Amino acid sequence: MQKQTIIVTGGCGYIGSHTAVALQQAGYNVVIFDCCVNSTPETLDRITEITGVRPDFEHVDLTDALATHNAFEKHPHACGVIHFAALKAVGESVAQPVRYYRNNLTSLLNVLNMMVELNIPNIVFSSSATVYGNPTELPATEQTPLQPATSPYGQTKLMAEQIIRDTVAAHPNMHAVLLRYFNPIGAHPSGKIGELPNGVPNNLMPYILQVAAGWREKLNVFGNDYQTPDGFCVRDYIDINDLVDAHIAALQYMSHQENNIDVFNIGTGHGLSVMEIIRAFENATGVKIKYEIAPRRAGDVPAIYACANLAQEKLGWCAKIPVTETMKSAWLWQQNISDKKQG
Ligand code: UD1
Repeated sequence: MQKQTIIVTGGCGYIGSHTAVALQQAGYNVVIFDCCVNSTPETLDRITEITGVRPDFEHVDLTDALATHNAFEKHPHACGVIHFAALKAVGESVAQPVRYYRNNLTSLLNVLNMMVELNIPNIVFSSSATVYGNPTELPATEQTPLQPATSPYGQTKLMAEQIIRDTVAAHPNMHAVLLRYFNPIGAHPSGKIGELPNGVPNNLMPYILQVAAGWREKLNVFGNDYQTPDGFCVRDYIDINDLVDAHIAALQYMSHQENNIDVFNIGTGHGLSVMEIIRAFENATGVKIKYEIAPRRAGDVPAIYACANLAQEKLGWCAKIPVTETMKSAWLWQQNISDKKQG
Protein backbone atom coordinates (compact mmCIF):
# COMPACT_ATOMS: atom_id res chain seq x y z
CA MET A 1 0.00 0.00 0.00
CA GLN A 2 1.24 3.47 -0.83
CA LYS A 3 2.26 5.56 2.15
CA GLN A 4 0.10 8.55 2.99
CA THR A 5 1.92 11.87 2.73
CA ILE A 6 1.68 14.43 5.51
CA ILE A 7 3.03 17.96 5.14
CA VAL A 8 4.57 19.16 8.41
CA THR A 9 5.01 22.92 8.44
CA GLY A 10 7.65 24.02 10.92
CA GLY A 11 9.00 20.47 10.86
CA CYS A 12 12.53 21.57 11.77
CA GLY A 13 11.29 23.12 15.02
CA TYR A 14 10.91 21.58 18.44
CA ILE A 15 7.48 19.99 18.21
CA GLY A 16 7.59 19.61 14.42
CA SER A 17 10.82 17.59 14.38
CA HIS A 18 9.58 15.14 17.02
CA THR A 19 6.33 14.81 15.10
CA ALA A 20 8.18 14.12 11.85
CA VAL A 21 10.04 11.25 13.55
CA ALA A 22 6.84 9.82 15.02
CA LEU A 23 5.02 10.09 11.68
CA GLN A 24 7.78 8.29 9.82
CA GLN A 25 7.85 5.59 12.46
CA ALA A 26 4.08 5.24 12.15
CA GLY A 27 4.46 4.61 8.40
CA TYR A 28 3.71 8.05 6.93
CA ASN A 29 5.68 9.81 4.23
CA VAL A 30 6.75 13.18 5.66
CA VAL A 31 7.32 16.43 3.79
CA ILE A 32 8.67 19.29 5.88
CA PHE A 33 7.97 22.91 4.94
CA ASP A 34 10.16 25.30 6.90
CA CYS A 35 12.08 28.54 6.43
CA CYS A 36 14.22 27.74 9.48
CA VAL A 37 13.94 31.27 10.90
CA ASN A 38 13.90 29.79 14.41
CA SER A 39 15.37 26.39 13.67
CA THR A 40 18.07 24.73 11.61
CA PRO A 41 18.01 22.48 8.54
CA GLU A 42 20.53 20.26 10.39
CA THR A 43 17.48 18.88 12.14
CA LEU A 44 16.80 16.98 8.92
CA ASP A 45 20.07 15.08 9.45
CA ARG A 46 19.07 14.26 13.02
CA ILE A 47 15.64 13.01 11.94
CA THR A 48 17.36 10.86 9.32
CA GLU A 49 19.77 9.45 11.93
CA ILE A 50 16.85 8.45 14.16
CA THR A 51 14.52 6.97 11.55
CA GLY A 52 16.86 6.01 8.69
CA VAL A 53 14.65 7.98 6.30
CA ARG A 54 15.28 11.56 5.18
CA PRO A 55 12.06 13.53 5.07
CA ASP A 56 11.34 15.53 1.93
CA PHE A 57 12.07 19.17 2.55
CA GLU A 58 10.87 22.42 1.02
CA HIS A 59 12.67 25.53 2.19
CA VAL A 60 9.72 27.89 2.05
CA ASP A 61 8.54 31.04 3.76
CA LEU A 62 4.83 30.38 4.21
CA THR A 63 4.05 34.09 4.45
CA ASP A 64 4.99 34.24 0.75
CA ALA A 65 1.88 33.17 -1.16
CA LEU A 66 3.68 32.32 -4.38
CA ALA A 67 6.40 30.31 -2.63
CA THR A 68 3.72 28.48 -0.63
CA HIS A 69 1.85 27.75 -3.85
CA ASN A 70 4.96 26.36 -5.50
CA ALA A 71 5.85 24.18 -2.52
CA PHE A 72 2.34 22.71 -2.27
CA GLU A 73 2.18 22.11 -6.03
CA LYS A 74 5.08 19.69 -5.64
CA HIS A 75 3.04 17.59 -3.20
CA PRO A 76 -0.51 17.66 -4.54
CA HIS A 77 -1.36 14.19 -3.23
CA ALA A 78 -0.69 14.94 0.42
CA CYS A 79 -3.61 13.83 2.55
CA GLY A 80 -3.01 16.17 5.44
CA VAL A 81 -1.14 19.10 6.91
CA ILE A 82 0.11 19.46 10.46
CA HIS A 83 0.63 23.17 10.85
CA PHE A 84 3.26 24.10 13.43
CA ALA A 85 5.05 26.93 11.65
CA ALA A 86 4.65 30.00 13.85
CA LEU A 87 6.47 32.41 16.10
CA LYS A 88 5.86 31.65 19.78
CA ALA A 89 7.63 34.01 22.16
CA VAL A 90 5.00 35.77 24.26
CA GLY A 91 7.11 38.81 25.25
CA GLU A 92 8.48 39.28 21.74
CA SER A 93 4.92 39.25 20.39
CA VAL A 94 4.03 42.18 22.67
CA ALA A 95 7.00 44.13 21.32
CA GLN A 96 6.46 43.11 17.68
CA PRO A 97 2.72 42.64 17.16
CA VAL A 98 2.72 43.31 13.42
CA ARG A 99 5.42 40.73 12.85
CA TYR A 100 3.48 38.15 14.91
CA TYR A 101 0.10 38.74 13.28
CA ARG A 102 1.65 38.81 9.83
CA ASN A 103 3.73 35.73 10.33
CA ASN A 104 1.32 33.49 12.23
CA LEU A 105 -1.84 34.43 10.35
CA THR A 106 -0.58 35.00 6.80
CA SER A 107 1.15 31.63 6.83
CA LEU A 108 -2.01 29.91 8.02
CA LEU A 109 -4.10 31.66 5.36
CA ASN A 110 -1.66 30.67 2.63
CA VAL A 111 -1.63 27.06 3.83
CA LEU A 112 -5.44 26.87 3.98
CA ASN A 113 -5.73 28.48 0.58
CA MET A 114 -3.54 25.79 -0.96
CA MET A 115 -5.35 23.03 0.91
CA VAL A 116 -8.61 24.23 -0.61
CA GLU A 117 -7.06 24.58 -4.05
CA LEU A 118 -5.51 21.11 -4.04
CA ASN A 119 -8.31 19.41 -2.11
CA ILE A 120 -6.08 18.36 0.76
CA PRO A 121 -8.70 17.39 3.32
CA ASN A 122 -7.10 17.27 6.79
CA ILE A 123 -5.45 19.85 9.01
CA VAL A 124 -4.12 19.38 12.51
CA PHE A 125 -3.39 22.71 14.14
CA SER A 126 -1.15 23.44 17.12
CA SER A 127 -3.19 25.62 19.41
CA SER A 128 -2.37 26.39 23.01
CA ALA A 129 -3.77 26.37 26.50
CA THR A 130 -3.17 30.11 26.36
CA VAL A 131 -6.69 30.38 24.87
CA TYR A 132 -8.12 29.68 28.37
CA GLY A 133 -6.23 32.65 29.86
CA ASN A 134 -6.62 32.47 33.63
CA PRO A 135 -9.08 29.57 33.48
CA THR A 136 -12.47 29.95 35.11
CA GLU A 137 -12.26 26.33 36.30
CA LEU A 138 -9.64 23.67 36.94
CA PRO A 139 -8.91 21.38 35.31
CA ALA A 140 -9.62 23.24 32.07
CA THR A 141 -11.87 21.28 29.73
CA GLU A 142 -12.45 22.07 26.06
CA GLN A 143 -15.71 23.72 27.20
CA THR A 144 -13.98 26.06 29.64
CA PRO A 145 -14.71 29.57 28.32
CA LEU A 146 -12.02 31.12 26.17
CA GLN A 147 -10.58 34.37 27.47
CA PRO A 148 -9.42 37.46 25.67
CA ALA A 149 -5.75 37.00 24.83
CA THR A 150 -3.15 38.81 26.90
CA SER A 151 -0.57 38.90 24.11
CA PRO A 152 -0.54 39.10 20.31
CA TYR A 153 0.89 35.56 20.34
CA GLY A 154 -2.15 34.31 22.26
CA GLN A 155 -4.44 36.33 20.01
CA THR A 156 -2.99 34.63 16.92
CA LYS A 157 -3.91 31.25 18.42
CA LEU A 158 -7.50 32.39 19.08
CA MET A 159 -7.78 33.90 15.61
CA ALA A 160 -6.23 30.86 13.95
CA GLU A 161 -8.76 28.58 15.63
CA GLN A 162 -11.57 30.78 14.28
CA ILE A 163 -10.08 30.94 10.78
CA ILE A 164 -9.85 27.15 10.64
CA ARG A 165 -13.39 26.79 12.00
CA ASP A 166 -14.75 29.09 9.28
CA THR A 167 -12.72 27.38 6.56
CA VAL A 168 -13.95 23.86 7.31
CA ALA A 169 -17.51 25.18 7.64
CA ALA A 170 -17.27 26.55 4.11
CA HIS A 171 -15.59 23.41 2.70
CA PRO A 172 -17.46 20.38 4.01
CA ASN A 173 -14.90 17.95 2.59
CA MET A 174 -12.32 19.43 4.96
CA HIS A 175 -11.61 18.22 8.47
CA ALA A 176 -9.72 19.84 11.29
CA VAL A 177 -8.40 18.88 14.67
CA LEU A 178 -7.26 21.67 16.97
CA LEU A 179 -4.86 20.48 19.64
CA ARG A 180 -4.53 22.79 22.62
CA TYR A 181 -1.12 22.02 24.02
CA PHE A 182 -0.32 22.62 27.64
CA ASN A 183 3.44 22.92 28.41
CA PRO A 184 5.54 20.59 26.23
CA ILE A 185 8.93 19.64 27.70
CA GLY A 186 11.62 17.00 27.21
CA ALA A 187 13.33 15.62 24.14
CA HIS A 188 13.58 12.51 22.01
CA PRO A 189 15.03 9.63 24.10
CA SER A 190 17.99 9.48 21.68
CA GLY A 191 18.95 13.03 22.70
CA LYS A 192 19.40 13.84 19.00
CA ILE A 193 16.55 16.35 18.75
CA GLY A 194 15.10 18.71 21.33
CA GLU A 195 14.23 22.32 21.99
CA LEU A 196 16.79 24.84 20.74
CA PRO A 197 15.86 28.30 21.97
CA ASN A 198 17.43 31.36 20.41
CA GLY A 199 19.20 33.55 22.96
CA VAL A 200 17.92 33.71 26.51
CA PRO A 201 15.14 31.14 26.95
CA ASN A 202 11.71 32.44 27.92
CA ASN A 203 10.39 29.07 28.97
CA LEU A 204 11.12 27.27 32.21
CA MET A 205 12.57 23.97 31.03
CA PRO A 206 15.18 25.29 28.59
CA TYR A 207 16.22 27.79 31.27
CA ILE A 208 16.66 25.01 33.85
CA LEU A 209 18.72 23.03 31.33
CA GLN A 210 21.01 25.95 30.60
CA VAL A 211 21.57 26.57 34.33
CA ALA A 212 22.34 22.86 34.77
CA ALA A 213 24.81 23.02 31.87
CA GLY A 214 26.53 26.08 33.36
CA TRP A 215 25.46 28.36 30.52
CA ARG A 216 23.54 30.54 32.96
CA GLU A 217 24.26 31.29 36.57
CA LYS A 218 20.84 30.79 38.13
CA LEU A 219 17.16 30.42 37.44
CA ASN A 220 14.82 33.23 38.38
CA VAL A 221 11.68 31.68 39.84
CA PHE A 222 8.90 34.11 39.03
CA GLY A 223 6.81 34.49 42.18
CA ASN A 224 6.38 32.38 45.35
CA ASP A 225 3.24 34.03 46.68
CA TYR A 226 0.57 32.58 44.38
CA GLN A 227 -2.61 31.06 45.79
CA THR A 228 -1.37 27.56 44.99
CA PRO A 229 -0.40 24.67 47.32
CA ASP A 230 3.28 25.73 47.56
CA GLY A 231 2.96 29.36 46.38
CA PHE A 232 4.56 28.68 42.98
CA CYS A 233 2.83 28.73 39.60
CA VAL A 234 1.32 25.45 38.47
CA ARG A 235 1.36 24.16 34.89
CA ASP A 236 0.61 20.92 33.09
CA TYR A 237 3.99 19.80 31.74
CA ILE A 238 3.58 17.21 29.00
CA ASP A 239 6.39 15.09 27.57
CA ILE A 240 7.06 15.99 23.94
CA ASN A 241 6.98 12.31 22.95
CA ASP A 242 3.51 11.90 24.44
CA LEU A 243 2.43 15.16 22.81
CA VAL A 244 3.49 14.11 19.31
CA ASP A 245 1.66 10.81 19.68
CA ALA A 246 -1.53 12.85 19.97
CA HIS A 247 -0.92 14.05 16.39
CA ILE A 248 -0.71 10.51 15.07
CA ALA A 249 -3.87 9.65 16.99
CA ALA A 250 -5.54 12.76 15.53
CA LEU A 251 -4.67 11.77 11.95
CA GLN A 252 -6.02 8.27 12.50
CA TYR A 253 -9.17 9.72 14.06
CA MET A 254 -9.67 11.98 11.03
CA SER A 255 -10.20 8.97 8.78
CA HIS A 256 -13.56 8.46 10.52
CA GLN A 257 -14.18 11.91 12.04
CA GLU A 258 -17.88 12.70 12.17
CA ASN A 259 -17.60 16.40 12.95
CA ASN A 260 -15.78 18.72 10.60
CA ILE A 261 -13.78 20.05 13.50
CA ASP A 262 -12.82 18.80 16.95
CA VAL A 263 -10.80 20.38 19.72
CA PHE A 264 -8.72 18.46 22.24
CA ASN A 265 -6.68 19.42 25.26
CA ILE A 266 -3.28 17.79 25.15
CA GLY A 267 -1.93 17.63 28.67
CA THR A 268 -1.30 15.13 31.44
CA GLY A 269 -4.24 16.19 33.58
CA HIS A 270 -1.87 16.97 36.48
CA GLY A 271 -0.39 20.26 37.58
CA LEU A 272 3.18 20.63 38.82
CA SER A 273 4.61 23.75 40.40
CA VAL A 274 7.83 25.44 39.31
CA MET A 275 9.49 24.09 42.46
CA GLU A 276 8.23 20.57 41.78
CA ILE A 277 9.76 20.78 38.30
CA ILE A 278 13.10 21.93 39.72
CA ARG A 279 13.04 19.04 42.23
CA ALA A 280 12.01 16.54 39.56
CA PHE A 281 14.97 17.61 37.43
CA GLU A 282 17.39 17.40 40.36
CA ASN A 283 16.12 13.97 41.42
CA ALA A 284 16.22 12.54 37.91
CA THR A 285 19.67 13.83 36.99
CA GLY A 286 21.51 14.43 40.28
CA VAL A 287 22.30 17.96 39.08
CA LYS A 288 21.46 20.83 41.44
CA ILE A 289 19.72 23.92 40.06
CA LYS A 290 20.74 27.25 41.53
CA TYR A 291 17.70 29.49 41.75
CA GLU A 292 16.49 32.72 43.26
CA ILE A 293 12.96 33.88 43.97
CA ALA A 294 12.16 36.80 41.67
CA PRO A 295 9.05 38.99 41.27
CA ARG A 296 6.05 37.61 39.44
CA ARG A 297 6.25 37.73 35.63
CA ALA A 298 3.61 39.89 33.96
CA GLY A 299 0.89 37.82 32.31
CA ASP A 300 1.52 34.57 34.24
CA VAL A 301 -1.60 32.83 35.49
CA PRO A 302 -1.36 31.17 38.92
CA ALA A 303 -2.44 27.71 37.81
CA ILE A 304 -3.60 25.86 34.74
CA TYR A 305 -3.81 22.18 33.97
CA ALA A 306 -5.84 20.12 31.57
CA CYS A 307 -8.74 17.80 31.70
CA ALA A 308 -7.59 15.48 28.89
CA ASN A 309 -10.49 13.02 29.11
CA LEU A 310 -11.90 13.94 25.71
CA ALA A 311 -8.63 13.03 23.96
CA GLN A 312 -8.64 9.73 25.84
CA GLU A 313 -12.24 9.03 24.88
CA LYS A 314 -12.14 10.06 21.21
CA LEU A 315 -8.49 9.72 20.19
CA GLY A 316 -7.62 6.85 22.50
CA TRP A 317 -4.67 8.99 23.58
CA CYS A 318 -3.32 9.80 27.00
CA ALA A 319 0.02 10.91 28.44
CA LYS A 320 2.11 8.00 29.71
CA ILE A 321 5.70 9.07 30.23
CA PRO A 322 6.74 9.69 33.85
CA VAL A 323 8.31 13.05 34.59
CA THR A 324 11.61 11.40 35.63
CA GLU A 325 12.03 10.07 32.11
CA THR A 326 11.15 13.46 30.64
CA MET A 327 13.85 15.11 32.73
CA LYS A 328 16.41 12.52 31.68
CA SER A 329 15.71 12.97 27.95
CA ALA A 330 15.81 16.75 28.31
CA TRP A 331 19.17 16.54 30.08
CA LEU A 332 20.61 14.13 27.52
CA TRP A 333 19.68 16.57 24.75
CA GLN A 334 21.17 19.53 26.63
CA GLN A 335 24.42 17.62 27.20
CA ASN A 336 24.60 16.81 23.49
CA ILE A 337 24.23 20.46 22.48
CA SER A 338 26.65 21.53 25.21
CA ASP A 339 29.27 19.10 23.82
CA LYS A 340 28.77 20.56 20.34
CA LYS A 341 29.10 24.11 21.67
CA GLN A 342 32.40 23.24 23.33
CA GLY A 343 33.67 21.07 20.45
C1 UD1 B 1 4.02 30.06 27.60
C2 UD1 B 1 2.82 30.57 26.85
C3 UD1 B 1 2.18 29.41 26.14
C4 UD1 B 1 3.18 28.77 25.20
C5 UD1 B 1 4.36 28.31 26.03
C6 UD1 B 1 5.45 27.71 25.16
C7 UD1 B 1 1.14 32.21 27.60
C8 UD1 B 1 0.43 32.78 28.76
N1 UD1 B 1 1.94 31.18 27.85
O1 UD1 B 1 3.54 29.21 28.63
O2 UD1 B 1 1.08 29.84 25.40
O3 UD1 B 1 2.61 27.69 24.54
O4 UD1 B 1 4.91 29.42 26.74
O5 UD1 B 1 6.07 28.66 24.37
O6 UD1 B 1 0.97 32.65 26.50
N2 UD1 B 1 9.19 30.42 34.93
C9 UD1 B 1 10.11 30.81 35.88
N3 UD1 B 1 11.35 31.22 35.46
C10 UD1 B 1 11.70 31.27 34.14
C11 UD1 B 1 10.74 30.86 33.16
C12 UD1 B 1 9.49 30.46 33.59
O7 UD1 B 1 9.83 30.79 37.07
O8 UD1 B 1 12.83 31.66 33.81
C13 UD1 B 1 7.85 29.96 35.36
C14 UD1 B 1 6.73 30.84 34.86
O9 UD1 B 1 6.45 31.86 35.77
C15 UD1 B 1 5.59 29.82 34.75
C16 UD1 B 1 6.29 28.49 34.46
O10 UD1 B 1 7.65 28.69 34.80
O11 UD1 B 1 4.96 29.70 35.98
C17 UD1 B 1 6.19 28.09 33.01
O12 UD1 B 1 6.60 29.17 32.18
P1 UD1 B 1 6.88 28.99 30.62
O13 UD1 B 1 7.73 27.79 30.41
O14 UD1 B 1 7.34 30.29 30.09
O15 UD1 B 1 5.45 28.61 30.01
P2 UD1 B 1 4.03 29.36 30.13
O16 UD1 B 1 4.19 30.78 30.46
O17 UD1 B 1 3.16 28.53 31.00
